[in-house]
Amino acid sequence: MNDIQFNHPYDLLNYYFNKENETLDLKYRQKLSEEILPFLTKTEDGSYTFKSPDFNDEISENMHTIAGAISESFEKFVNPLKLDWNISEEIAILDLCSGFGYNSAAFLNHFIEIQDEFNLSNSLRIDMIEKSSEICKIALVMPTIDFDSFKPINHNLIKRAIETKLFNSKLISIKLYENYKFNDKIKINLFIEDMREKVKSLPSNIYDGIFLDAFSPKLAPELYTIDFFKELQRVIKNTGQIVTYTSSIPVKSALIEAGFYIGKGSVFGRKTPGTIASLSKDRINLDLDSDEERLIALSDLGIPFRDENLTLNSQEVINQRNSKRKKLRNKTLISSAVKTPIYLGIDLNQENITKNNHIIEDKLKRRILRNLNEFGLDSTISSDAMKIIASQNMDDKENYKNNSRDRILAMKKALNNFFKENKMS
Ligand SMILES: C[S@@+](CC[C@H](N)C(=O)[O-])C[C@H]1O[C@@H](n2cnc3c(N)ncnc32)[C@H](O)[C@@H]1O
Repeated sequence: MNDIQFNHPYDLLNYYFNKENETLDLKYRQKLSEEILPFLTKTEDGSYTFKSPDFNDEISENMHTIAGAISESFEKFVNPLKLDWNISEEIAILDLCSGFGYNSAAFLNHFIEIQDEFNLSNSLRIDMIEKSSEICKIALVMPTIDFDSFKPINHNLIKRAIETKLFNSKLISIKLYENYKFNDKIKINLFIEDMREKVKSLPSNIYDGIFLDAFSPKLAPELYTIDFFKELQRVIKNTGQIVTYTSSIPVKSALIEAGFYIGKGSVFGRKTPGTIASLSKDRINLDLDSDEERLIALSDLGIPFRDENLTLNSQEVINQRNSKRKKLRNKTLISSAVKTPIYLGIDLNQENITKNNHIIEDKLKRRILRNLNEFGLDSTISSDAMKIIASQNMDDKENYKNNSRDRILAMKKALNNFFKENKMS
């Protein structure tokens, strides 16, 4: 049928979908589902991932972890959610950067299991947002997930929702998944749009869970800004949760600035845990580590990404943050070099003193002190230093705060007070 060699997966995709559109012959979709396989990578649980050709090869990322694409959907996105099954009649999920729809498929599987097990009658609304119609087309021709307790029909139902959208948008001309029927309590919508634009038009206060599965903040910082998170703050219910796989410090910082409580998500396929955010304190199970709280509150590393009109490109967002870091480091914020703030409260004059099981060598001590002195602090244990980290000190009944968000905000305030009293005088 085809002896053309395609080096780019989107050329292959366009070739076969054009043929299908012209002829309305199903054989082209079948052929494409075979020929797309060399462009996909099988992950450890048998589900497939794909390396985005939207970035050059050195920096591009797989869409999912190699440790298991669909496992990641369960471990990182679905299982950490705490939902109000008995309070909300409708459970509403916003799947941002929905890609192949794995997170939605995993949630659908979970939803149906919970409904059956506890004899519930919730309805379900899933809104998926994905910018790339090519990714949506690949979703249609990739192998259906075959995984432990996962029911393949749930993946096919997601494929049906993707196919319906592509068909209604006149991007494809045949529907193959029509026979997979939803019961009328389940509504799955796909929007093929830039999520920064689409989210603005979503109603307020409706989502119980938001999956944020963009490429990493290094590649796509514009999808992790305070300004975008403020939109999420508007559309999420008070008890809802945002879950994301990234543990990036500026992302956590932006979530705090947008009004969220934050904590650690689960660890799967990566060294660090994901992040969970909610407007309600009680939806956060695990606080951040105290070192992270300090880097967010006190150092230039904690400067979040900004995109006031939700229009900047990645490089503009990075440049803006970098110039702010340069301007504020050693002025209103402690230098993040050698993670200086994590040593506050430790007496560096003691022999063989350790932090996180590492001996603090003399050279490191000198660098820490130099950074603190540049900021205007005399030592790691001066009364000013102790005041700045008071919200983390459990023995300090008056100042201690019992969650990461409040500790971070209190440290920021204390640092600012120190700056005003000592550096501006
Ligand atoms: C890490 S992958 C997501 C994987 C996906 N959740 C899944 O289950 O397959 C990131 C996705 O974000 C999409 N994307 C990138 N920028 C976007 C934007 N501004 N709005 C919506 N989607 C975007 C990419 O096309 C890609 O499919």
